Amino acid sequence: MERTLVLIKPDAFKRGLVGEIISRFERVGLTLEGMKILNATIEMVEKHYPDDKNWIRSVGKKTIDTYEKYNLNIIEDLGTNDALKIGQLVRKWLIQHLTSGPVLVLILSGNHAVEMVRKIVGNTVPLFAELGTIRGDFSIDSPDLSAREKRVLQNLVHASETVEEAKREISLWFANYS
Ligand code: CMP
Repeated sequence: MERTLVLIKPDAFKRGLVGEIISRFERVGLTLEGMKILNATIEMVEKHYPDDKNWIRSVGKKTIDTYEKYNLNIIEDLGTNDALKIGQLVRKWLIQHLTSGPVLVLILSGNHAVEMVRKIVGNTVPLFAELGTIRGDFSIDSPDLSAREKRVLQNLVHASETVEEAKREISLWFANYS
């Protein structure tokens, strides 16, 4: 039995998809153990997405790879092709987005909950997410479009990547949860 954490982001609220997203987790048999709606502070979001150079660089690389794949000019759009600088820009947009409206925080539990939730959610980049997943069914966003529009990828939800990350994120959003 495992626990994982999901954030339903402000873009899901704007699209009216909150109920649909929760029902996808419920119908597969996961148990809803905790749920709270809040307006996230900058401090909370900064703690959730740590200022870690490797992670920031990997986020920047996702944008660079997408620009390369579609033969687009990243310098024209962002003024740089440095993965760290692009990642830092993305992190800033991410903090802006998550503090722009309500966030619903969920704790879900069940057999291999971390992996199961990641499967239901789909690839981080909606353009590459399979149909049948939350991101694949409800978003067509991509890192090149979001970079051009100077905003974060709108991918509706965040889901913990590993069991360790889930533990850290659950104790961050639900203090005293045991
Ligand atoms: P999430 O799973 O919450 O983790 C980090 C978030 O940053 C991710 O979902 C996206 O919303 C966003 N993100 C990740 N990579 C990029 C990127 N290359 N360009 C824009 N936004 C991104």
